[in-house]
Amino acid sequence: MEDFLEDLRNDHRDFDLARLEDVVGTNPFDLFNQWMKNAVDKGVAEANACVVSTVDTTGQPSGRIVYLKELINGEFIFYTNYHSHKGKDLAGNNKISMLFFWPALQQQIRIDGLCYKVPEQVSDAYFRSRPRGSKIGAWASNQSEQLISRTELEQRVHEYAEKFPGEVPRPPHWGGYAVRAELVEFWQGRPSRLHDRFVFKKEGENWNVGRLNP
Ligand SMILES: Cc1cc2nc3c(=O)[nH]c(=O)nc-3n(C[C@H](O)[C@H](O)[C@H](O)COP(=O)(O)O)c2cc1C
Repeated sequence: MEDFLEDLRNDHRDFDLARLEDVVGTNPFDLFNQWMKNAVDKGVAEANACVVSTVDTTGQPSGRIVYLKELINGEFIFYTNYHSHKGKDLAGNNKISMLFFWPALQQQIRIDGLCYKVPEQVSDAYFRSRPRGSKIGAWASNQSEQLISRTELEQRVHEYAEKFPGEVPRPPHWGGYAVRAELVEFWQGRPSRLHDRFVFKKEGENWNVGRLNP
């Protein structure tokens, strides 16, 4: 297994893209939108899936994938259960990191910042747009709590489907988090590990942009 991993090599020779200086701009959001649109246009699977890392009050980090659902006014928004492992971490420590990796494009984006619950009406509007099955699932799943059996979950799905035969309200413990970025780094793979890295750092209302060594 270890030999197998050592032998994996990707020299990123296929990705001799235009120089990033030409497209960087004055804030990270334009470039993020540009890269995301390109990833979607190029057919990258699950382009909006990212690793969200949180840290609990003892300093223990945890990562998991979520879907980025919106980028509004510079806030990266995802939806989850506020009582989940990540929800508990964020209640005690709202520092967060989001990471996108698109292997086919040899691109990585890191977003470090602070996380806040979105206003209830924002969560309501998004919840309303979800399919009925997902809405019932949000009630039935005590996300990250121990589950004795699959049957227990299916039973709860059945109960909530009966409880809400028509419109399904948003559970109060389910909603959005907005990530306000303080640092955004764009990484573009280049040959011989001489990758391009551009980092935006928030300084007051402005963004400073610079290059990092690969
Ligand atoms: C592709 C993919 C997308 C996911 N999207 C979400 C999401 O948007 N929200 C969410 O709460 N969990 C999502 N999950 C499940 C999480 O990875 C995780 O299992 C769950 O949120 C519980 O995490 P926690 O126990 O660390 O809180 C997704 C998983 C995958 C593989």
